Amino acid sequence: MPMNEHENFILQGDVAFNVDKDTLQTFRRSYVVCEDGKCSGVFPVLPEKYKDLPIIDHGSQLIIPGMTDLHMHAAQYPLRGIGMDKEQLDWLKSYTFEEEARYEDLELAKKAYESFAYNLRRSYTTRAVIYGTIHNDATIILMDELESTGLETYVGRINMDRNSVEALQEENAEVSLEGTKAWLSAIEGKYENTRAIITPRFIPACSDELMKGLGELARERGMRMQSQLSENLDEIRWVKQLVPDSTCYGNAYELFGTLGDESRPSVMAHCIYSSDEELEILKKHGAYIAHCADSNINMASGIAPIHKYMDLDLKIGLGTDVAAGTAVNMTQSILRTLQASKMYYRLVDDSVKPLTIENVFYLATMGGGEYFGKVGSFLPGYDFDAVVVDDSTIFSMRNLSVRERIERMCYNDTECVITGKFVKGKRIRR
Ligand code: GUN
Repeated sequence: MPMNEHENFILQGDVAFNVDKDTLQTFRRSYVVCEDGKCSGVFPVLPEKYKDLPIIDHGSQLIIPGMTDLHMHAAQYPLRGIGMDKEQLDWLKSYTFEEEARYEDLELAKKAYESFAYNLRRSYTTRAVIYGTIHNDATIILMDELESTGLETYVGRINMDRNSVEALQEENAEVSLEGTKAWLSAIEGKYENTRAIITPRFIPACSDELMKGLGELARERGMRMQSQLSENLDEIRWVKQLVPDSTCYGNAYELFGTLGDESRPSVMAHCIYSSDEELEILKKHGAYIAHCADSNINMASGIAPIHKYMDLDLKIGLGTDVAAGTAVNMTQSILRTLQASKMYYRLVDDSVKPLTIENVFYLATMGGGEYFGKVGSFLPGYDFDAVVVDDSTIFSMRNLSVRERIERMCYNDTECVITGKFVKGKRIRR
Protein backbone atom coordinates (compact mmCIF):
# COMPACT_ATOMS: atom_id res chain seq x y z
CA MET A 1 0.00 0.00 0.00
CA PRO A 2 1.30 3.53 -0.69
CA MET A 3 2.19 5.51 2.45
CA ASN A 4 -0.65 8.03 2.21
CA GLU A 5 -3.35 5.74 0.94
CA HIS A 6 -6.40 7.75 2.07
CA GLU A 7 -7.24 11.44 1.96
CA ASN A 8 -10.10 10.95 4.37
CA PHE A 9 -10.06 8.08 6.81
CA ILE A 10 -10.68 6.98 10.37
CA LEU A 11 -8.29 5.59 12.97
CA GLN A 12 -9.88 3.28 15.51
CA GLY A 13 -8.35 2.48 18.88
CA ASP A 14 -7.95 3.75 22.45
CA VAL A 15 -7.60 7.51 22.21
CA ALA A 16 -6.07 10.17 24.48
CA PHE A 17 -5.55 13.89 23.91
CA ASN A 18 -5.54 17.13 25.86
CA VAL A 19 -8.24 19.73 25.53
CA ASP A 20 -6.40 22.15 27.84
CA LYS A 21 -3.42 22.11 30.17
CA ASP A 22 -5.23 20.25 32.95
CA THR A 23 -7.52 17.92 31.03
CA LEU A 24 -6.69 14.73 29.18
CA GLN A 25 -9.70 13.25 27.43
CA THR A 26 -9.65 9.49 26.96
CA PHE A 27 -11.83 7.12 24.93
CA ARG A 28 -11.84 3.35 24.55
CA ARG A 29 -12.32 1.74 21.12
CA SER A 30 -13.27 5.03 19.50
CA TYR A 31 -12.97 6.66 16.09
CA VAL A 32 -10.67 9.58 15.20
CA VAL A 33 -11.85 11.07 11.92
CA CYS A 34 -9.48 12.71 9.41
CA GLU A 35 -10.86 14.88 6.60
CA ASP A 36 -8.55 16.85 4.30
CA GLY A 37 -5.67 16.63 6.76
CA LYS A 38 -7.75 17.95 9.68
CA CYS A 39 -9.32 16.17 12.62
CA SER A 40 -13.12 16.19 12.57
CA GLY A 41 -13.35 14.85 16.12
CA VAL A 42 -13.30 11.67 18.22
CA PHE A 43 -16.45 9.54 18.42
CA PRO A 44 -17.24 6.52 20.63
CA VAL A 45 -20.00 5.68 18.11
CA LEU A 46 -19.30 6.49 14.46
CA PRO A 47 -21.75 9.11 13.11
CA GLU A 48 -23.71 8.03 10.05
CA LYS A 49 -22.09 10.69 7.82
CA TYR A 50 -18.66 9.02 8.17
CA LYS A 51 -19.81 5.45 7.53
CA ASP A 52 -18.30 5.28 4.02
CA LEU A 53 -14.80 6.36 5.11
CA PRO A 54 -12.14 3.65 5.36
CA ILE A 55 -11.37 2.60 8.94
CA ILE A 56 -7.86 1.62 10.03
CA ASP A 57 -8.53 -0.54 13.06
CA HIS A 58 -5.72 -0.50 15.64
CA GLY A 59 -7.58 -2.64 18.17
CA SER A 60 -6.70 -1.47 21.66
CA GLN A 61 -3.53 0.37 20.66
CA LEU A 62 -3.15 3.96 21.86
CA ILE A 63 -3.84 6.80 19.44
CA ILE A 64 -2.33 10.09 20.59
CA PRO A 65 -1.55 13.45 18.97
CA GLY A 66 1.92 13.87 17.47
CA MET A 67 4.40 15.68 19.70
CA THR A 68 6.30 18.93 19.06
CA ASP A 69 10.00 19.24 19.87
CA LEU A 70 10.60 22.98 20.23
CA HIS A 71 14.39 22.85 20.54
CA MET A 72 17.03 20.48 19.20
CA HIS A 73 20.44 20.61 17.52
CA ALA A 74 20.48 18.18 14.59
CA ALA A 75 24.25 18.53 14.14
CA GLN A 76 24.88 17.35 17.69
CA TYR A 77 22.99 14.10 17.17
CA PRO A 78 26.18 11.99 16.88
CA LEU A 79 27.38 13.52 20.19
CA ARG A 80 24.57 12.09 22.33
CA GLY A 81 25.75 11.05 25.79
CA ILE A 82 29.28 12.42 25.41
CA GLY A 83 30.93 15.06 27.60
CA MET A 84 28.08 14.98 30.05
CA ASP A 85 30.32 15.71 33.06
CA LYS A 86 30.75 19.25 31.79
CA GLU A 87 28.54 22.29 32.27
CA GLN A 88 27.12 24.24 29.34
CA LEU A 89 29.95 26.69 28.46
CA ASP A 90 32.67 24.12 29.05
CA TRP A 91 30.78 21.46 27.07
CA LEU A 92 30.37 23.84 24.13
CA LYS A 93 34.09 24.67 24.03
CA SER A 94 35.37 21.14 24.72
CA TYR A 95 33.07 19.11 22.49
CA THR A 96 30.22 20.80 20.71
CA PHE A 97 31.89 23.49 18.63
CA GLU A 98 34.49 20.98 17.38
CA GLU A 99 31.71 18.56 16.47
CA GLU A 100 29.69 21.18 14.60
CA ALA A 101 32.81 22.34 12.72
CA ARG A 102 32.90 18.91 11.02
CA TYR A 103 29.79 19.80 9.01
CA GLU A 104 32.04 21.64 6.59
CA ASP A 105 32.50 18.10 5.20
CA LEU A 106 29.32 17.47 3.20
CA GLU A 107 29.73 13.71 2.92
CA LEU A 108 29.86 13.48 6.66
CA ALA A 109 26.97 15.94 6.99
CA LYS A 110 24.84 13.78 4.69
CA LYS A 111 25.48 10.64 6.75
CA ALA A 112 24.84 12.36 10.07
CA TYR A 113 21.68 14.15 8.93
CA GLU A 114 20.28 11.02 7.26
CA SER A 115 20.57 9.21 10.57
CA PHE A 116 19.04 12.16 12.46
CA ALA A 117 16.08 12.50 10.07
CA TYR A 118 15.47 8.75 10.00
CA ASN A 119 15.27 8.55 13.77
CA LEU A 120 13.18 11.68 14.11
CA ARG A 121 10.68 10.27 11.62
CA ARG A 122 10.42 7.11 13.72
CA SER A 123 9.88 8.99 17.00
CA TYR A 124 6.76 10.47 18.65
CA THR A 125 7.65 13.84 17.09
CA THR A 126 5.61 15.24 14.21
CA ARG A 127 6.83 18.87 14.44
CA ALA A 128 10.18 20.29 15.42
CA VAL A 129 12.21 23.51 15.63
CA ILE A 130 15.80 22.65 14.81
CA TYR A 131 19.31 24.12 14.75
CA GLY A 132 21.73 23.23 11.94
CA THR A 133 25.24 24.74 11.92
CA ILE A 134 26.88 27.86 10.45
CA HIS A 135 27.33 25.98 7.15
CA ASN A 136 24.87 26.80 4.34
CA ASP A 137 25.40 23.64 2.30
CA ALA A 138 25.17 21.27 5.25
CA THR A 139 22.05 23.03 6.54
CA ILE A 140 20.46 22.60 3.11
CA ILE A 141 21.28 18.87 3.28
CA LEU A 142 19.55 18.78 6.67
CA MET A 143 16.49 20.53 5.22
CA ASP A 144 16.40 18.13 2.23
CA GLU A 145 16.53 15.15 4.59
CA LEU A 146 13.79 16.54 6.82
CA GLU A 147 11.57 17.41 3.86
CA SER A 148 11.71 13.81 2.72
CA THR A 149 10.42 12.57 6.10
CA GLY A 150 7.06 14.37 5.88
CA LEU A 151 7.66 16.02 9.27
CA GLU A 152 6.84 19.72 9.63
CA THR A 153 9.86 21.67 10.80
CA TYR A 154 11.59 25.00 11.18
CA VAL A 155 15.34 24.78 10.54
CA GLY A 156 17.97 27.40 11.32
CA ARG A 157 21.39 28.04 9.83
CA ILE A 158 23.29 29.20 12.92
CA ASN A 159 24.95 32.61 13.23
CA MET A 160 28.04 33.11 15.39
CA ASP A 161 30.85 35.63 14.94
CA ARG A 162 32.59 35.58 18.35
CA ASN A 163 33.65 33.41 21.29
CA SER A 164 33.74 30.15 19.37
CA VAL A 165 36.62 28.00 18.10
CA GLU A 166 38.35 29.14 14.92
CA ALA A 167 36.79 26.45 12.75
CA LEU A 168 33.26 27.42 13.80
CA GLN A 169 33.32 31.18 13.76
CA GLU A 170 32.30 33.53 10.98
CA GLU A 171 34.72 36.34 10.25
CA ASN A 172 32.43 39.19 11.26
CA ALA A 173 28.79 40.29 11.33
CA GLU A 174 28.69 41.17 7.65
CA VAL A 175 29.99 37.77 6.55
CA SER A 176 27.47 36.04 8.81
CA LEU A 177 24.56 38.16 7.53
CA GLU A 178 25.53 37.75 3.88
CA GLY A 179 25.89 34.00 4.44
CA THR A 180 22.40 33.88 5.91
CA LYS A 181 20.95 35.77 2.95
CA ALA A 182 22.71 33.41 0.53
CA TRP A 183 21.21 30.44 2.41
CA LEU A 184 17.73 31.97 2.20
CA SER A 185 18.13 32.59 -1.55
CA ALA A 186 19.31 29.03 -2.13
CA ILE A 187 16.23 27.50 -0.48
CA GLU A 188 13.58 29.93 -1.69
CA GLY A 189 10.46 28.03 -2.79
CA LYS A 190 12.22 24.68 -2.37
CA TYR A 191 10.23 23.05 0.43
CA GLU A 192 6.67 22.33 1.44
CA ASN A 193 7.11 21.19 5.04
CA THR A 194 10.46 22.71 5.98
CA ARG A 195 10.71 26.38 6.88
CA ALA A 196 13.71 28.60 7.58
CA ILE A 197 14.12 30.29 10.94
CA ILE A 198 16.72 32.93 11.89
CA THR A 199 19.09 31.42 14.48
CA PRO A 200 21.59 33.53 16.44
CA ARG A 201 23.17 30.80 18.62
CA PHE A 202 23.04 32.91 21.80
CA ILE A 203 24.28 36.35 22.76
CA PRO A 204 27.81 35.29 23.81
CA ALA A 205 28.41 33.94 20.28
CA CYS A 206 26.98 36.94 18.36
CA SER A 207 28.31 40.51 18.26
CA ASP A 208 25.91 43.41 18.83
CA GLU A 209 26.13 44.27 15.13
CA LEU A 210 25.21 40.72 14.13
CA MET A 211 22.31 40.56 16.58
CA LYS A 212 20.88 43.86 15.30
CA GLY A 213 21.38 42.79 11.68
CA LEU A 214 19.55 39.51 12.27
CA GLY A 215 16.70 41.31 14.02
CA GLU A 216 16.33 43.59 10.98
CA LEU A 217 16.57 40.72 8.51
CA ALA A 218 13.86 38.78 10.33
CA ARG A 219 11.60 41.85 10.44
CA GLU A 220 12.11 42.67 6.76
CA ARG A 221 11.35 39.11 5.67
CA GLY A 222 8.60 38.39 8.19
CA MET A 223 10.65 35.52 9.64
CA ARG A 224 10.69 33.89 13.04
CA MET A 225 13.76 33.56 15.25
CA GLN A 226 15.06 31.02 17.75
CA SER A 227 17.77 31.36 20.35
CA GLN A 228 18.72 30.35 23.90
CA LEU A 229 18.12 32.23 27.13
CA SER A 230 19.06 32.05 30.82
CA GLU A 231 20.33 28.47 30.78
CA ASN A 232 23.37 28.71 33.03
CA LEU A 233 24.42 31.15 35.78
CA ASP A 234 27.91 31.79 34.32
CA GLU A 235 26.33 32.43 30.93
CA ILE A 236 23.90 34.95 32.47
CA ARG A 237 26.75 36.83 34.22
CA TRP A 238 28.69 36.84 30.94
CA VAL A 239 25.77 38.34 29.01
CA LYS A 240 25.49 41.11 31.63
CA GLN A 241 29.15 41.98 30.90
CA LEU A 242 28.67 41.75 27.14
CA VAL A 243 25.51 43.89 27.09
CA PRO A 244 25.97 46.17 30.12
CA ASP A 245 22.95 48.34 29.28
CA SER A 246 20.55 45.39 29.46
CA THR A 247 18.39 44.98 32.55
CA CYS A 248 18.28 41.18 32.12
CA TYR A 249 19.29 38.59 29.50
CA GLY A 250 15.83 38.70 27.91
CA ASN A 251 16.08 42.49 27.70
CA ALA A 252 19.38 42.11 25.80
CA TYR A 253 17.54 40.12 23.07
CA GLU A 254 14.82 42.78 23.17
CA LEU A 255 17.33 45.63 22.74
CA PHE A 256 18.65 43.94 19.59
CA GLY A 257 15.11 43.50 18.21
CA THR A 258 15.36 39.72 18.14
CA LEU A 259 12.32 38.67 20.17
CA GLY A 260 9.70 38.97 17.45
CA ASP A 261 6.01 39.48 18.19
CA GLU A 262 2.70 37.55 18.26
CA SER A 263 2.69 37.21 14.46
CA ARG A 264 6.21 35.78 14.29
CA PRO A 265 6.95 34.45 17.74
CA SER A 266 10.45 33.45 18.80
CA VAL A 267 11.41 30.24 20.53
CA MET A 268 13.69 30.83 23.49
CA ALA A 269 15.17 27.62 24.84
CA HIS A 270 15.80 26.95 28.55
CA CYS A 271 14.66 30.06 30.53
CA ILE A 272 15.70 28.40 33.79
CA TYR A 273 16.57 31.55 35.69
CA SER A 274 14.12 33.99 34.13
CA SER A 275 13.22 36.82 36.52
CA ASP A 276 9.70 38.25 36.70
CA GLU A 277 10.92 41.04 34.41
CA GLU A 278 12.26 38.53 31.87
CA LEU A 279 9.01 36.57 31.96
CA GLU A 280 7.08 39.79 31.32
CA ILE A 281 9.30 40.50 28.32
CA LEU A 282 8.70 37.00 26.90
CA LYS A 283 4.96 37.43 27.39
CA LYS A 284 4.92 40.87 25.77
CA HIS A 285 6.59 39.45 22.65
CA GLY A 286 4.48 36.28 22.54
CA ALA A 287 7.69 34.23 22.72
CA TYR A 288 7.63 30.47 23.34
CA ILE A 289 9.70 28.90 26.10
CA ALA A 290 11.24 25.58 25.05
CA HIS A 291 11.67 23.72 28.31
CA CYS A 292 14.57 21.26 28.04
CA ALA A 293 14.59 19.30 31.29
CA ASP A 294 16.75 16.42 30.06
CA SER A 295 19.50 18.79 28.94
CA ASN A 296 19.15 21.03 31.99
CA ILE A 297 19.73 18.05 34.27
CA ASN A 298 22.62 16.62 32.22
CA MET A 299 24.45 19.96 32.16
CA ALA A 300 23.66 20.63 35.85
CA SER A 301 22.14 23.86 34.53
CA GLY A 302 19.19 23.99 36.92
CA ILE A 303 15.43 23.45 37.05
CA ALA A 304 12.99 25.84 35.41
CA PRO A 305 9.85 26.37 37.55
CA ILE A 306 7.52 25.36 34.74
CA HIS A 307 4.36 25.13 36.83
CA LYS A 308 4.85 28.77 37.82
CA TYR A 309 5.35 29.72 34.15
CA MET A 310 2.20 27.81 33.17
CA ASP A 311 0.21 29.62 35.86
CA LEU A 312 1.41 32.90 34.32
CA ASP A 313 -0.04 31.74 30.98
CA LEU A 314 3.26 31.88 29.19
CA LYS A 315 3.60 29.98 25.93
CA ILE A 316 5.58 26.81 26.68
CA GLY A 317 6.50 23.57 24.95
CA LEU A 318 9.16 20.92 25.47
CA GLY A 319 12.52 20.53 23.73
CA THR A 320 14.78 17.52 23.77
CA ASP A 321 17.79 19.82 23.19
CA VAL A 322 19.68 16.98 21.55
CA ALA A 323 22.56 16.52 22.27
CA ALA A 324 22.79 18.14 25.70
CA GLY A 325 19.59 16.11 25.93
CA THR A 326 20.36 12.58 24.89
CA ALA A 327 17.40 11.39 22.81
CA VAL A 328 14.91 12.56 20.19
CA ASN A 329 12.36 10.59 22.18
CA MET A 330 9.86 13.11 23.57
CA THR A 331 8.64 10.73 26.27
CA GLN A 332 12.12 11.05 27.78
CA SER A 333 11.61 14.82 27.87
CA ILE A 334 8.16 14.35 29.39
CA LEU A 335 9.61 12.12 32.10
CA ARG A 336 12.49 14.47 32.92
CA THR A 337 10.05 17.39 33.06
CA LEU A 338 7.88 15.52 35.56
CA GLN A 339 10.85 14.42 37.66
CA ALA A 340 12.49 17.85 37.66
CA SER A 341 9.23 19.53 38.72
CA LYS A 342 8.93 17.12 41.66
CA MET A 343 12.48 17.91 42.80
CA TYR A 344 11.88 21.66 42.40
CA TYR A 345 8.83 21.35 44.64
CA ARG A 346 10.63 19.20 47.23
CA LEU A 347 14.01 20.93 47.33
CA VAL A 348 13.57 24.50 46.06
CA ASP A 349 10.09 25.95 46.52
CA ASP A 350 7.08 24.02 47.81
CA SER A 351 4.71 26.72 46.57
CA VAL A 352 5.40 25.54 43.00
CA LYS A 353 3.47 22.27 42.83
CA PRO A 354 4.76 19.29 40.81
CA LEU A 355 3.45 19.07 37.27
CA THR A 356 0.86 16.38 36.54
CA ILE A 357 0.89 13.92 33.67
CA GLU A 358 -1.95 16.00 32.15
CA ASN A 359 0.17 19.17 32.36
CA VAL A 360 3.23 17.63 30.73
CA PHE A 361 1.36 15.68 28.04
CA TYR A 362 -0.21 19.05 27.21
CA LEU A 363 3.23 20.72 26.93
CA ALA A 364 4.49 17.96 24.62
CA THR A 365 1.43 18.09 22.36
CA MET A 366 -0.76 21.24 22.48
CA GLY A 367 1.73 23.55 24.24
CA GLY A 368 4.50 23.23 21.66
CA GLY A 369 2.05 22.39 18.89
CA GLU A 370 0.51 25.86 19.10
CA TYR A 371 3.74 27.23 17.64
CA PHE A 372 2.65 25.55 14.39
CA GLY A 373 -1.02 26.57 14.57
CA LYS A 374 -3.91 24.30 15.61
CA VAL A 375 -1.66 21.34 16.34
CA GLY A 376 -1.39 18.80 19.15
CA SER A 377 -4.98 17.80 19.91
CA PHE A 378 -7.84 15.83 18.35
CA LEU A 379 -10.32 18.66 18.89
CA PRO A 380 -12.21 19.38 15.66
CA GLY A 381 -10.25 21.62 13.27
CA TYR A 382 -6.80 20.59 14.52
CA ASP A 383 -4.24 19.33 12.00
CA PHE A 384 -4.40 15.55 11.90
CA ASP A 385 -1.05 14.71 13.50
CA ALA A 386 -1.34 11.30 15.15
CA VAL A 387 0.89 8.59 16.58
CA VAL A 388 -0.29 5.02 17.15
CA VAL A 389 1.41 3.15 19.99
CA ASP A 390 1.26 -0.54 20.83
CA ASP A 391 1.75 -0.88 24.60
CA SER A 392 0.37 -4.43 24.82
CA THR A 393 4.03 -5.52 25.01
CA ILE A 394 4.09 -4.40 28.66
CA PHE A 395 2.76 -7.08 30.98
CA SER A 396 0.29 -5.83 33.57
CA MET A 397 -1.86 -7.61 36.17
CA ARG A 398 -4.35 -4.74 36.13
CA ASN A 399 -7.07 -3.63 33.79
CA LEU A 400 -5.56 -0.20 33.18
CA SER A 401 -7.49 2.91 32.19
CA VAL A 402 -6.32 4.77 29.08
CA ARG A 403 -5.03 7.55 31.33
CA GLU A 404 -2.95 5.04 33.31
CA ARG A 405 -1.52 3.66 30.07
CA ILE A 406 -0.53 7.17 28.96
CA GLU A 407 1.13 7.69 32.34
CA ARG A 408 2.97 4.36 32.00
CA MET A 409 4.06 5.21 28.45
CA CYS A 410 5.54 8.50 29.70
CA TYR A 411 7.33 6.93 32.65
CA ASN A 412 8.57 3.89 30.75
CA ASP A 413 8.23 3.83 27.00
CA THR A 414 11.07 1.37 26.37
CA GLU A 415 8.67 -1.48 25.63
CA CYS A 416 6.19 0.60 23.63
CA VAL A 417 6.18 0.21 19.85
CA ILE A 418 5.08 2.96 17.49
CA THR A 419 2.99 1.35 14.76
CA GLY A 420 1.75 4.38 12.81
CA LYS A 421 2.36 8.07 12.43
CA PHE A 422 0.50 10.77 10.49
CA VAL A 423 1.28 14.42 9.80
CA LYS A 424 -1.60 16.55 8.48
CA GLY A 425 -3.37 13.33 7.55
CA LYS A 426 -0.45 11.84 5.61
CA ARG A 427 1.01 8.59 6.87
CA ILE A 428 4.76 8.95 7.39
CA ARG A 429 5.53 5.65 9.10
CA ARG A 430 4.08 2.29 10.03
N1 GUN B 1 23.99 27.55 24.40
C1 GUN B 1 24.58 27.92 23.25
N2 GUN B 1 24.71 26.88 22.41
C2 GUN B 1 24.18 25.81 23.05
C3 GUN B 1 24.01 24.45 22.67
O1 GUN B 1 24.38 24.00 21.60
N3 GUN B 1 23.41 23.64 23.61
C4 GUN B 1 23.00 24.12 24.82
N4 GUN B 1 22.41 23.27 25.66
N5 GUN B 1 23.16 25.39 25.18
C5 GUN B 1 23.74 26.22 24.30
